[in-house]
Amino acid sequence: MKKKVMALALALCLCCGAALMTGCGQDGGKIIMGTNAEFEPFEYKTESGIVGNFDGLDVAIAQEIAKDMGKELAVEDMDFGSLIGAVSTGKVNFVAAGMTIKPDRLENADFSDTYFDAGQVIIVKKGQTDIKSNEDLKDKKIGVQEGTTGDEAVSELGGSTEVYRFKKGMDAVLDLNNDKIDAVVIDEMPARAFVAKNEGLEILDEPFTVESYAIAVKKGDTATLEAINKTLKRIKEDGTFDELYKKYIDAYVENFEE
Ligand code: ARG
Repeated sequence: MKKKVMALALALCLCCGAALMTGCGQDGGKIIMGTNAEFEPFEYKTESGIVGNFDGLDVAIAQEIAKDMGKELAVEDMDFGSLIGAVSTGKVNFVAAGMTIKPDRLENADFSDTYFDAGQVIIVKKGQTDIKSNEDLKDKKIGVQEGTTGDEAVSELGGSTEVYRFKKGMDAVLDLNNDKIDAVVIDEMPARAFVAKNEGLEILDEPFTVESYAIAVKKGDTATLEAINKTLKRIKEDGTFDELYKKYIDAYVENFEE
């Protein structure tokens, strides 16, 4: 009997040691990333994703965070507008969703160091002549993804601008293709991904807003925040971020410059 207990204890020790050494996902359970997987190349659904059906730069960064914490990453997909609520109630441990840091969000969540410079751009139909610059958006029908910074910026235009709010950026692009709206305002990289798949569309040169993405945690959750910042620092220093940038972002940059 004693021998058996000893053997069990030894097995347990070896197991813990291995888990500590490899940082494998067996010691700490799961860490949950909240996102809205309608935002290629940052998060999207695909048949063979890196975490179940999910893939994208944010998912890959979240995997690095989970790895450093010795936990397994789970992805929780929801409407973009539900994400801050989900992290502040603890339904998810952090939000990685190409989310821009801005004052009203900082009141309801804490944000990591920034990891991506971004901004809103304007997508129009090729050959149209009505919208040539930011000023021309006023009094037009503009599609946005609901609850995003694009939604906010277009809503502030005033006049008789009509804001069409969609749950998915792709649905806004479909309505632009079908002439139901005059333009779509959305983040630059997803815009490039949409335009790459829709021949008749183009992006105006002038950016509409300038923003930065960061990862959100529950207000006061300094342990998770520090862990995230540590991983962001590591992947920027050891070349992992550059590799991921090549894998997920470069294709769209090249595509755009052709
Ligand atoms: N950067 C914009 C914002 O923070 C849009 C982000 C949308 N992200 C997404 N996964 N749908 O409001």
